[in-house]
Order: sequence, then C-alpha cells, then structure tokens
Amino acid sequence: MSVLARVLPVLKLYLTAVKVLFYQLLHKPFAVPALPKQHGKVAIVTGGARGLGYAIVRQLAGLGMHVIIASHDKKQGLAAVKSIREEQSRALVVAAEEILRSFWVCRFLAEIIEWVAIRPPDWPEEQQGLPTPAVCEQGSLLLIIVLNLTATKVRFVVSLGLSLSPPPHLSVDFEFVDLASLSSVRQFVCRFQAQGLPLHVLINNAAVMLVPEGKTDDGFELHFATNYLGHFLLTRFLLDTLVHSGKDEACSRIISISSSAHYTADKDFLFFRSMQHYSAHGAYAHSKLAQVLFTYRLQQELQSSGCAVTASAVDPGVVDTHLYRNLSTPARLAQRLIAHLLFRSPAQAAATAVYAAASPELEGVGGCYLYEGKRVSSSALSYDVELQAQLWRRSCSLLGLADSLYVYQAKRGGGGGGAYTNLSL
Ligand SMILES: NC(=O)c1ccc[n+]([C@@H]2O[C@H](COP(=O)([O-])OP(=O)(O)OC[C@H]3O[C@@H](n4cnc5c(N)ncnc54)[C@H](OP(=O)(O)O)[C@@H]3O)[C@@H](O)[C@H]2O)c1
Repeated sequence: MSVLARVLPVLKLYLTAVKVLFYQLLHKPFAVPALPKQHGKVAIVTGGARGLGYAIVRQLAGLGMHVIIASHDKKQGLAAVKSIREEQSRALVVAAEEILRSFWVCRFLAEIIEWVAIRPPDWPEEQQGLPTPAVCEQGSLLLIIVLNLTATKVRFVVSLGLSLSPPPHLSVDFEFVDLASLSSVRQFVCRFQAQGLPLHVLINNAAVMLVPEGKTDDGFELHFATNYLGHFLLTRFLLDTLVHSGKDEACSRIISISSSAHYTADKDFLFFRSMQHYSAHGAYAHSKLAQVLFTYRLQQELQSSGCAVTASAVDPGVVDTHLYRNLSTPARLAQRLIAHLLFRSPAQAAATAVYAAASPELEGVGGCYLYEGKRVSSSALSYDVELQAQLWRRSCSLLGLADSLYVYQAKRGGGGGGAYTNLSL
C-alpha cells in the first residue's frame, strides 16, 4: 500500500506531462494577439523574478503596466527589474534613433538638391527638359521646410507619447514576499497598500515543485503553503484594493497559474491529514488542484457580491524553467535533453497569462481554466462545488479568517463606491 501510494502520483504526473509534451510537439504555441496598451494599470506578479513569472512581467510591462515583482529572492528580483528597465530604455533609444535616421536621410537628400540648385556659375541657363536652377532651389527649399515641419511634428508626437506612458524607471519594481510565510504575506500587503497604488491585475504564479518533505514555520506542508495557502491569503488581503480599482467596463483580474498536474490530484490528499505516505509529486498536484478549486469558488463569491473583479486559472503547459531543479538526477538529465525540443519557452508560455490579464475578449469573464489561449475543462473534481466550499472553509479556518469574503454592497459600476467591511491586517 505504501509503495503504491508513493509510486502512483509519480506515474500519474509523468503520464500527464508526456501527454502535454505530445500536444506541444504537434501544435504551435499560442501567440498573443495585439492587445491594447495598459498605461495606468498596476499588476503584481508573484515569483516574477525568474522563469514564467519573469516572462509575464516583461510582457505586461511592455504593454505599459506598472508591474511589481513579488519574490523572496531580493538579489534575483532586483536583477530582473534592472534587466527589464534596461530593455525598455534600449527599446526607446532604438525607436527614437529610427525616427531621426529616416528624418536625417530625407534632410540630407534635400541638402543635396539645394547644393545642386546653387550650381556653378557656368551652369547653362536653359537646358532642354531640366528645371531651371531657380525652380530647383525653390523646390529644395520647400522640401526642407516640409521636412523641418515633419521633424517638429515627429518630436511632438514622441514627447507626447513619452509623457503619456510612464517613464521606464516607474514601470517595474521589486517587493519582497515569502509566500511560505503568512507574516511575510501580511507585511507585503501592508507595504503595498502604504504606497497607495491601485491594483488591476494579480498573478499568483510563484511555486515550488517536488521539494523534500517539510513544513513551513507556520506548520504547513511546503507545496500547499507556497503554491496555494500563501496565495489564498495574499488574494484575500489584496481584494479590497482590487475591488476599488475595478470598473464594470474594466474589471480587475486575479489569475492563478495552475498546471496540468492538477488533473492527477484526488480529494483524499487535499487536506494533508496524513503525512504517512508523503509524495512530493502528489503534494505538488494537490496544491495545483487547490488553486483551481479556489479560483472557481472565488469567482462565484465575486460574482454574487457584484464586484468588478474576475478570477481565472491558467495552465502554461510544460515550460523550460528552474521549476524542475528538484527532479532526480536521471530525470533532470532526460528533462535537459528534451527541453529544447518539446518544452515551451517561458516567453511562449507566458502568452496565455498575459492574454488572461489584458485581453478585451475576456473582459468581465471569470471562472475560466485557460490553456493555449483557449478556455478548456479542468478536472471533473475541480468543478465539485462541495469540495470548493470545503477547501474554502478549511483554508479560512487555517488562516483564522472569516468564511464570508466580505459584505459588499456595491453599486454596479461604482468601482469602489460601495460600503463594505473587509479583513483587517
Ligand atoms: N515549468 C513548467 O513546466 C510548469 C508547468 C505547469 C505549471 N507551471 C507553473 O508555473 C508557475 C511558474 O513556475 P516556473 O516554471 O516559472 O518555475 P520557476 O522558474 O521555479 O519560478 C517560480 C518562482 O516562484 C518563486 N518562489 C518559490 N517559492 C517562493 C516563495 N516562498 N515566495 C516567493 N516566491 C517564491 C521562485 O523563486 P526562487 O527561484 O528564488 O525560489 C521563482 O521565482 C508555477 O505556478 C508553476 O506551478 C510551470
């Protein structure tokens, strides 16, 4: 029994991964369609310092969002911020240079025409079929005037564009959070709220996978605590700000990065009552199922309270990241061998999350499980409403929170005009 309990989750997880890899081999990765610019919007991406999270941060910042990388590795987080800022500055310089280059080429041509027009004194006055020097001079002068006006217009448009978009140093930031620590999550939320920023997108992305059996300082299993419970607490504490920032025509969005691993989870494991037959594979799968159950329940709560906030889950596929660092050595070698061929790159895998965060097609739409840019079915178990409610209640009681999300008497379209009671920090 104990051997079966250990082996079964491993087999189920690897079979699921093979199925996904087979799909990835046969299908092109989803490419994000052109999305509207997101200037003035604020996003938090947990675990945004590397892997999939980093790719999501880059793409959201590219759309003009102010993105906060919430991570527990300060060095890595600051390096990520630096690299994205440098990239943005380079992009601005390249664009400006491109505009100036095309202007100066035209200007140079006009100068040549003018130089030709001020011809040497022995230039014959009248030549068959050629414009007179006077005409050339007038023409080139006119061209220079037009080009100067165009340059002024281009400069105006560029400076207007820069003034409308946030300066590069504002677009990405780092804030420390250890999702495996409930007090760290609380402190993160306090620091964020002290900044007085709105919040339009929350991406619950950070995770650990296949870590050895262990407990957090708060006494929770590591996968469950980091991948699920920390995000549950973070979301509940940030809900107030998300609600205030959402509008009917532009809902705030909560996106939880789940995994196809959730299909392999069963409900017996869910509450980690027994650690007798600990399986790291099982623990990861269950934390990912918990995220989906939470997402559906949260969406239901948000919908019934009339908030302009939606919640969805995203499955990024199998991605070449550091998530696999805890694989056994043979499995890690095999993973390295096939990764280039079959795994999605973080940038490719980020597409669905970015689409979920910014697509107008998903405006006001929540409760989805998105894979490769499409809504697909999650596991049958994830739709079990009783299980969703059970997990919700259990999580609240573990965290010492009230069951009810909050009492929100919003006037639809108010975007914060309602009176409500929220959780205290
Ligand atoms: N890679 C895949 O094939 C795959 C497949 C399906 C789903 N996913 C999901 O995609 C998401 C991103 O994973 P990834 O592949 O990008 O893995 P990754 O490269 O390992 O990134 C995970 C991020 O989470 C951070 N993190 C871990 N523990 C944390 C904690 N206690 N507090 C704050 N941050 C913490 C990590 O920081 P450190 O590196 O400093 O620990 C890292 O930045 C995860 O939710 C994962 O389950 C990935």
